[in-house]
Order: sequence, then structure tokens, then C-alpha cells
Amino acid sequence: MPKPKYHIVVCTNSRPPGHPKPSCGSAGAASLLMAFNMGLMQKGVPPGEVIVTGSSCLGPCEQGPTVVVYPDATWYSKVTEADVTTIIDEHIKGGKPVAKLNPDAVWK
Ligand code: FES
Repeated sequence: MPKPKYHIVVCTNSRPPGHPKPSCGSAGAASLLMAFNMGLMQKGVPPGEVIVTGSSCLGPCEQGPTVVVYPDATWYSKVTEADVTTIIDEHIKGGKPVAKLNPDAVWK
């Protein structure tokens, strides 16, 4: 099995109702993860070339859903399903982080 070219990590952490902190899970992260999987398939990305995994909390919960793309270690905040195609086209297929999504803003 070849080493994956990219690893997309989607925070899918959820918190119980009434918890004072927001979570990516309550902001639609599960659907987002599925949208990445479906989008990669629809765009013809070979299976195994890009892996998509959910994760526990990555830290910037107020900016979720949080998505990190490796090996670049590019962080995307407030990712929507509408952003998925753009990330696949420009970052995964094009090789450049999506400037209009303000990558790594959470760290600036
Ligand atoms: S819950 Fe997603 S970053 Fe904390």
C-alpha cells in the first residue's frame, strides 16, 4: 500500500448539551467528513492517495469546524460543506492551501 499523499483531519468532537464550550460535532463536522470522502471519490482521487479521519478536539473549538491538512499542517477554520470542493480542487489536487479560506488564521 503506498504512503498517502495527504491526510485530512476533521475534528468531529462533540460535547454534551449545555456544555459551555462549542464543538465541531455540533457544527456539522460529521457531515463535513463525509463530504470530504464523497468529494475525493467524485473527483477521481485514487483510493488511499488521501486519507480522511475524524479526530477528537484539536483546540480552537470556537473556530470550528476545524480541518487540518497534512503534510502541510494547514489549518482551516469554520469549514463548511461548500468549502470542501474548493479544498479538494485547490489544495489536494492543486497543491496550494486555499488562500481565500484564510488558512492558519487561528494561529495568527
Ligand atoms: S471541538 Fe473541534 S477544535 Fe475543539
